[in-house]
Amino acid sequence: MLKLNNISKTFGACTIDEKKALENFNLSLNPEEFVTIIGGNGAGKSTLFNSIAGTFYVDTGSVILDGEDITFKPEYKRSKEIGRMFQDPLKGTAPNMTIEENLALAYLRAKKGGSFTRVTAKDREYFKDKLSGLGLGLEDRLDSKVGLLSGGQRQALTLLMATLVTPKLLLLDEHTAALDPATVEKVLSLTEKIVKENKITCMMITHNISSALALGTRTIMMDSGKIVLDISGDERVGMTVPIILEKFKENAKKALDNDRILLG
Ligand SMILES: Nc1ncnc2c1ncn2[C@@H]1O[C@H](COP(=O)(O)OP(=O)(O)O)[C@@H](O)[C@H]1O
Ligand SMILES: [Mg+2]
Repeated sequence: MLKLNNISKTFGACTIDEKKALENFNLSLNPEEFVTIIGGNGAGKSTLFNSIAGTFYVDTGSVILDGEDITFKPEYKRSKEIGRMFQDPLKGTAPNMTIEENLALAYLRAKKGGSFTRVTAKDREYFKDKLSGLGLGLEDRLDSKVGLLSGGQRQALTLLMATLVTPKLLLLDEHTAALDPATVEKVLSLTEKIVKENKITCMMITHNISSALALGTRTIMMDSGKIVLDISGDERVGMTVPIILEKFKENAKKALDNDRILLG
């Protein structure tokens, strides 16, 4: 589904601030694989997502999505096929627009071709049906301004917007990091539900090692722009937080350093 062939990205090349954020990075994802990604500060996790989403082009290597070489495809075009979510609940939605208007925008962004001039009764029913799947009662608040929603409600809505038209790939960059613990659980279980129901191939960066092991089908640990651990199947099923920290130390030759890391 996704193939990264030897991609590299260096910031500030040939300056004293030169930083190799990704170095000869290789990754191959199967359809419907759900990969969780952990790593220390500056390991290159967000750079990996930026490279896939097209926020910038990689210096070397190629990015293949569903058989198509998208290495030099601009971000706005990739966004039709790649859904993305960030940590900040304020980022994914437009606060002064209503829930319905936000969903209509998401629909417009992801829909292939075709024009979209107004929300039809059929669209509204579709939005309501999708919103009720969140179990937050938002289906009765289509005309509410999104700015009035809580952080968790906004992230749930952003998640819905990113998957309203099923993306080929969903990128979640610490999308629950700014939420309180109870809300984190809610948004994570919604994430699992939506990914499963729509058979979405998904990559999720998290600083919570337990959720990294509990969710998804495969876990990757990154350090200094490289993969230092890649586990799936039986090996992953038997994995615990202490063992994974030990493995990281073994492979990265240092302890996992992330100022927000959560072990429990
Ligand atoms: N746009 C940028 N300009 C300069 N340096 C950057 C930029 N983006 C990331 N970096 C650097 O690249 C490294 C990897 O960053 P990042 O991918 O954001 O790490 P992570 O998400 O794993 O914490 C860091 O050293 C960071 O400072
Ligand atoms: Mg990051």
